[in-house]
Amino acid sequence: ARLDARNTFGVPARAPLLVEVADAAALPELFGYPMLREGPVLVLGGGSNLLFAGDPPGAVLALGGQQIGIVSDDNGVAIVRADAGVEWHALVLWTLGHGLAGLENLALIPGTVGAAPIQNIGAYGVEVREHVHAVEAFERATATPRRLSARDCAFGYRDSLFKREPERFVVTAVEFALSRSPVLRLEYAGLGDELAAMGIDACATDTVRPSQVAEAVCRIRRRKLPDPAVLGNAGSFFKNPIVALAQAEALHAAHPALPMFRGYDDATRKLSAAWMIDACGWKGHRDGDAGVAASHALVLVNHGHASGAQLLGLARRIAASVHERFGVALEPEPRIVGAPW
Ligand code: EPU
Repeated sequence: ARLDARNTFGVPARAPLLVEVADAAALPELFGYPMLREGPVLVLGGGSNLLFAGDPPGAVLALGGQQIGIVSDDNGVAIVRADAGVEWHALVLWTLGHGLAGLENLALIPGTVGAAPIQNIGAYGVEVREHVHAVEAFERATATPRRLSARDCAFGYRDSLFKREPERFVVTAVEFALSRSPVLRLEYAGLGDELAAMGIDACATDTVRPSQVAEAVCRIRRRKLPDPAVLGNAGSFFKNPIVALAQAEALHAAHPALPMFRGYDDATRKLSAAWMIDACGWKGHRDGDAGVAASHALVLVNHGHASGAQLLGLARRIAASVHERFGVALEPEPRIVGAPW
């Protein structure tokens, strides 16, 4: 089966077998087949956080479940359950439409609900782990459904148990804890400015609605991040590297403009990968059809007919130049299939 239209980079790839499952209840039977039971299985959501640098070696599985519902609604907190196959942004709009706040900063992130906990999607000061109540997953080793608490998921920055052990679980649904009384998260510097540009006073926090925050996020994303439907990409291609405080201080002394934020804790700092890549002159660079977005240095783009291997080659050259100039190792953010990093 061809996967060209199933990855937002739009690169060519082919799977030996593509299985689409509408109902997660079919998974125990499906994983009875030797190819799925014993072989590598790639679970594909929206294909918006992976790069096919080669073909996947085994079966590819896509979950189609589309249900969204409110499981409980007490004391101002609702638990919303959504199937893995639901489009992420559709869920965000659904929750806002039902008067539930929490996901507004995560508006317009490409991909599916099932993919959200894998890399702990985050944007504009919020990570999805803050609202994950539980994750329902099929555990391959025991061929049974499991329910993992947020703590079980071991979330980190763009990281989780699912990302560290990609063959272990198939995420089938996610439960989110959302609030009836919004607590707006406007600490990301650009958000207040964007609300102001929309004619909304961000300082009057009790009058700003979560749907307006979502709209501001959509406006920023549309301006900075290329639309994968127009220009193939997978969002940020590198994670923002987290380094020890001493290294961050040395970098700050040499490059005072390099943006840095709190890391895992007070002893580490998260550095802006985009800034370092930009400083190395890569923004808008193009090698054939593999390029770096002109609007954001952290986004690799396919101008038409780049292969995954060409995009990976460009990514490695970018990482090498950042390492040479800043002494910092960049790690890819999307999953790379069919080749080592
Ligand atoms: N910057 C540059 N050059 C650029 C772009 C940005 O110097 O071309 C500098 C800006 O000055 C800014 C800093 O880099 O101060 C950070 O840029 P931005 O706010 O766009 O955020 P980011 O760190 O590059 C992260 C996430 C994005 C998320 C934004 C907004 C990661 C890997 N990426 O990007 O997530 O949308 O913050 O919160 O953490 C994704 O994961 O695919 C993704 C798009």
